[in-house]
Amino acid sequence: MRSLTEILAPVAEDLRSVDGEIRARLSSDVPLIGTVADYIIAAGGKRLRPAVLLLIARALGYRGSAHVLLATVVEFIHTATLLHDDVVDESELRRGRATSNARFGNAASVLVGDFLYSRSFQMMVEAGEMRVMQILADATNRIAEGEVLQLMAVHDPSVNEHRYLEVVGRKTAALFEAAARIAAVIARTSPELEEASSHYGAGLGTAFQMIDDVLDYSGHAEDIGKRLGDDLREGKVTLPLIHAMHCADADQRRRIERAIREGGGDFSEIARIVQDNGSIAYVRRRARDESARAAAAAEQLPPSAFRDSLLDLSAFGMHRDR
Ligand code: IPE
Ligand code: IPE
Ligand code: MG
Ligand code: MG
Repeated sequence: MRSLTEILAPVAEDLRSVDGEIRARLSSDVPLIGTVADYIIAAGGKRLRPAVLLLIARALGYRGSAHVLLATVVEFIHTATLLHDDVVDESELRRGRATSNARFGNAASVLVGDFLYSRSFQMMVEAGEMRVMQILADATNRIAEGEVLQLMAVHDPSVNEHRYLEVVGRKTAALFEAAARIAAVIARTSPELEEASSHYGAGLGTAFQMIDDVLDYSGHAEDIGKRLGDDLREGKVTLPLIHAMHCADADQRRRIERAIREGGGDFSEIARIVQDNGSIAYVRRRARDESARAAAAAEQLPPSAFRDSLLDLSAFGMHRDR
């Protein structure tokens, strides 16, 4: 399998332009904004959402320059959600370093997240396309719904797969889906190819979150750049846990339920129960189905090196360790 750098090679130059745009657009007269925003953005990140937008736009023959601006908007929205998410989740590690909330405090993180959201709205308006604004406005609203739905579900052992998927569809898949759809819109493609692009984004995003939830139990902190076990500690009921509760014996189920209600307990014990019940393998299978759905949608796009990368990206989403 190709590395992420190899997969993204066809849009490497566009991605460099996105990084330039990110730096240019962070400017503000208020020094703390630059400090906090720089801190999280300079830490890296995989830039997957901008990459999806750029690859689809190119695969559909787009030749203008708005794709770079819009890819930057999508990364800003993503970054804003991370700043807010880490406050809500009380996370301490992100992209291999202390989270912004750990470093600068909750207030600064929330406010700079708001700055990034509102800056992205200014940039969308600049792009001047009503449909694009509509798609992004809807996506940001759905992300917020997803985070609130998730908040309502913490410490609740009765959360099932259906409720889990409702959260994931909103908090994660919505932005991937929007990035993909916008690319089709600016490329002035057919309604059929716009739908195919959107399905690609939705499948990729869903698989991506499932693997994120797997890595929270079974990854390595040095690879994922985040602390393992964050989800259990905050009482977040993700698919590995839902599956384990379903398959476990009565004693194991009681232990899991207690850990969810109390938030934490012995992480390595719960992680072992999750492993022993085949729940990691189960969620990987579910992610593989979503990723196959994404690949089938991408197959509808005309063949090109860009389309090959979209296909490889769906496989990368599955096999990634970071
Ligand atoms: C993290 O997204 C949040 C999730 C949706 C799981 P990424 O894993 O894309 O984060 P970065 O941008 O690469 O750090
Ligand atoms: C994804 O959920 C967060 C957003 C989409 C905002 P997580 O809470 O699982 O993401 P990480 O693990 O903190 O990156
Ligand atoms: Mg989180
Ligand atoms: Mg996570």
